Amino acid sequence: MFLQYIKISHFRNLKSAIFSMPRHGLAIISGPNGSGKTTLLEAIYALTYGKSFRTSDSPQLIQHGQDSFALFASLLPNDANNLQAFTVGVQRDRNRGVIAQCLGEPEKFSEIARMLPIRIISPTEAYVLINGGPEQRRKFLDWGVFHVKHSYWGLLKKLNRIIKQKSAALKMRCSDEELEQWNQILSEVSYALHNMRQQYINQLKHILAEYQALLPAIRDVSLDYFPGWARGNDDLPTQLSTVLKQERQQGHCLIGPHRAEILLNTPFGTSKDQLSRGRQKMLAIALYLSQGKLLYQEKGQHPLYLIDDFSSELDLDGQQLLVDALDPKDKQIIITTLEAGQIVLDKICMKAEAIKRYTILDGNLVSD
Ligand SMILES: Nc1ncnc2c1ncn2[C@@H]1O[C@H](COP(=O)(O)OP(=O)(O)O)[C@@H](O)[C@H]1O
Ligand SMILES: [Mg+2]
Repeated sequence: MFLQYIKISHFRNLKSAIFSMPRHGLAIISGPNGSGKTTLLEAIYALTYGKSFRTSDSPQLIQHGQDSFALFASLLPNDANNLQAFTVGVQRDRNRGVIAQCLGEPEKFSEIARMLPIRIISPTEAYVLINGGPEQRRKFLDWGVFHVKHSYWGLLKKLNRIIKQKSAALKMRCSDEELEQWNQILSEVSYALHNMRQQYINQLKHILAEYQALLPAIRDVSLDYFPGWARGNDDLPTQLSTVLKQERQQGHCLIGPHRAEILLNTPFGTSKDQLSRGRQKMLAIALYLSQGKLLYQEKGQHPLYLIDDFSSELDLDGQQLLVDALDPKDKQIIITTLEAGQIVLDKICMKAEAIKRYTILDGNLVSD
C-alpha cells in the first residue's frame, strides 16, 4: 500500500501536522536541527509498528503537557485502479497504553505493518546494525522475514512465549521430564523459524552480492547466518538435552532461535572491528536496500523509505549509493535534510516524477 497522508496530533513537538505525499515519488522535508524532522519520520513509523525507532519509552512520544498522541493515516492500495483508501489510526494514552485501528475497528500492529512496510535509513540505525549487539541484527532479520512471510510473526511470538515459560520452569527447578517436553515444543518452533530465516538469508545474499559488485569498499564482507545453535552432527533436540544441566545452573535458555545472529565478516575479522565508519554505513545501506529489493521481488511491494538526515550525516559515497539505487518513479521515499538544495539530493529529485517539499520549523510543518 501507499501512504496518502498522515495527520499527527501531539506527537513530541508536532502539535498538529498534516503530511501528504505523491503515490510514487519523493517528499523532502528540510529544517534546522531540533525542528522535528526525525519526529515526523518517527510518527510515520509509529503508525505502522506501534513504537518508535528512537526510543523504547513510548510515553516520551506524547507531547509535554498532553495525555495522548494520535496518528491517523490514509493508505491507498498498490493497484492504481483501486482508489479505495484504508484509514488506520494509532492512539497512545499515558495511562491506557496504545490502541491501533484499521477502518475504525481495533487491529493488531502486525496487520498495519503488513500493509505498509517501512524501511528507516538513518545514521544511527546504520551504526547500530553493524556495531550493536546480536539483537540488532535479529531485528533486521525479523523485519525482512516478516514482510515476505507474514506467518513468521505468529511463530516468533510463539517462540517468545516458549522461551519465557521454559526459563520459568528452569528457575522453578521443574523435573527433567517437564523440561524435555518444553524442549520438544521449542525444537519444533525453532526449526520452523530457522527454515524461514535460512531461506531469507540465502535470497538476501544474492541481492547483496549485486550491490557489493558495484562497491569495492564492502566487496570482501560475507553475510552468514547462525541459527542460535551449533550446526554439526547433533540435531537441536540432542543439543538441548546436552545443555540442560548448564541451563539449570544458569536459569535461562542457552540455545535456540532467540540466540540467532547475522554474521558480517571480512577476511580479517568482523565488520564492526575491521571496517571504517564510512564503510560500515555503506554496508548497512546496502543491506537495507537489499531487503527492500527482496521484498519487492517476493511481494511486488516496495517499502516506504524514510531517509533521515540525508545531507548532514551521510557521506558522499553513502548519498550516491542511495541516489543510484532508489528510483522514486515506482516507490515512495521521504528524505529529511538540513538544507534542501544540494547536488546529490538534486540528482534524486531529477529522477522523480512527483516531488512534494516541506519546511519544518519548531514543529510547524509547511508545504512549500
Ligand atoms: N515529548 C515531547 N514534547 C514536546 N517536545 C518534544 C518532546 N520530545 C522531544 N521534543 C522536542 O522535539 C524536537 C524535535 O526534535 P527532532 O525531531 O529530533 O528534530 P530534528 O530531527 O529536526 O533535528 C526537539 O527540539 C525536542 O526537544
Ligand atoms: Mg533529526
